[in-house]
Amino acid sequence: MAAERVLISSEQIQKRIREMAAEIESDYPEGPIYLVSILKGAFIFLADLARALKRPTVRIEFMAISSYGMEKTSSGQVKLTRDLDVNIEGHDVLLVEDIIDSGVTLTYLKGLLEQRRPRSLEIATLLDKPERRIKPVKVKYIGFQIPDEFVVGYGLDYAEDYRNLSDIRVLSN
Ligand code: PRP
Repeated sequence: MAAERVLISSEQIQKRIREMAAEIESDYPEGPIYLVSILKGAFIFLADLARALKRPTVRIEFMAISSYGMEKTSSGQVKLTRDLDVNIEGHDVLLVEDIIDSGVTLTYLKGLLEQRRPRSLEIATLLDKPERRIKPVKVKYIGFQIPDEFVVGYGLDYAEDYRNLSDIRVLSN
């Protein structure tokens, strides 16, 4: 369909993840961290970030929401299709995302999880597209800020393709 050019190489991604993991390790001095990830796009970032954290008490949890452009709207309506099956009350929770675009998904999920009274709730995203923001959301750990271009690879798809690529690429016509 389209031309691809590498925006962020695999080496750049891995280097940045090591830096983010070091920051997270020093911010959470002890105890378990619950990495809560939203299917599907974040699965590769989650896997690499989790392995870059050195403590054994890294818990891996998944949630799922309805896919982009269907039931999700800028009004903030996000449909939860898979909830957590653990109780996060009193725990340190880090929401792990591949990309923040409008901010609608994370605003919704943050609100939902805050009601469950975790000890802390922060966000780590590999990519941030600030130009597209509709809902302001506070993000503690950002891998890369990127321009408003259609990106694929490293978990991100176009019609379910490209998720397996180890770098981030821009698709253009
Ligand atoms: C992407 C991404 C976030 C969301 C961010 O998921 O993984 O969950 O969009 O967009 P927002 O900030 O505008 O809410 P997508 O809906 O593409 O599904 P996928 O992860 O299954 O590819």
